Amino acid sequence: MHIPQIGLGTFRLKDTQAIDSVRTGLELGYRHVDTAQIYGNEQDVGTALRQSGIDRNDIFVTTKVWTEHLAGDKLVPSLEESLRKLGLEQVDLALIHWPSPGGAVPVAESMAALMAARERGLVRAIGVSNFTIPLLAEAIAAVGADNIATNQVELHPYLQNRALAGCMADAGIHLTAYMPLAYGKVMQDPVIARIAAKLGATPAQVTLAWLMGKGYAVIPSSTQRTNQAGNLAARELRLAPEDGAAIDALERGERLVNPDFAPRWD
Ligand SMILES: NC(=O)c1ccc[n+]([C@@H]2O[C@H](COP(=O)([O-])OP(=O)(O)OC[C@H]3O[C@@H](n4cnc5c(N)ncnc54)[C@H](OP(=O)(O)O)[C@@H]3O)[C@@H](O)[C@H]2O)c1
Repeated sequence: MHIPQIGLGTFRLKDTQAIDSVRTGLELGYRHVDTAQIYGNEQDVGTALRQSGIDRNDIFVTTKVWTEHLAGDKLVPSLEESLRKLGLEQVDLALIHWPSPGGAVPVAESMAALMAARERGLVRAIGVSNFTIPLLAEAIAAVGADNIATNQVELHPYLQNRALAGCMADAGIHLTAYMPLAYGKVMQDPVIARIAAKLGATPAQVTLAWLMGKGYAVIPSSTQRTNQAGNLAARELRLAPEDGAAIDALERGERLVNPDFAPRWD
């Protein structure tokens, strides 16, 4: 399973804004779109996919199963509903969006349901999101690391999640970095700005290149065509080791996404 290294995030985008953002991104060359049941925009994403005229097989589509649908009898029907909204027969990747709050539904039960969805052809690959080291260990125990295409987690210069990333590398599980621009905060960072000026690049490009250089997939979101285009061009940017090290040194444990139902973080 190859996850394209850069995808379009769609959190907070709805209606015309979601359709326009995804359609513009596809026009610019993005071939990976990240949505979720809770974003309420699967229908809009589906509209943009159809309007793009691009062959369905050339676009990698991810959706995420909301916490209310994690039980064994709810997960597959919820994915069928996602497919109906997206207007697709299959998504490329379906993730558990968040671990079941308070452990109400055992990880093994949801993973087994995801495997069943894959066997039925509703999804090409399965994975998790916001899983900590112990929760990921439970998922691996349930279905094996080979069946977990990614763990999508918050990761940017201010929250580098090194312990988790190390465990995932050891297990051979791919990491997808969400909120890779720290929701725009990296744009104000003096260290990143200095590297960007030196390279004739933008702070967003430097940050995305730093993440992709570590082998992570990134899913920045933008409502602006120029920002989308710039972010995509980060694929061509390579950082010198000393510049990478300077960004490594920005770690400060700053977690931006921490709802009250979040697991106990690593
Ligand atoms: N699994 C999860 O629980 C989870 C949680 C959060 C997010 N996500 C996923 O990760 C995606 C990305 O996260 P995010 O959207 O919260 O944050 P983000 O991608 O880190 O930042 C998006 C913000 O940065 C700005 N931006 C983007 N490119 C820029 C550029 N080149 N120059 C200047 N500003 C730029 C955007 O503004 P403009 O629109 O003005 O460009 C927007 O305000 C989400 O859309 C979602 O798909 C997943």
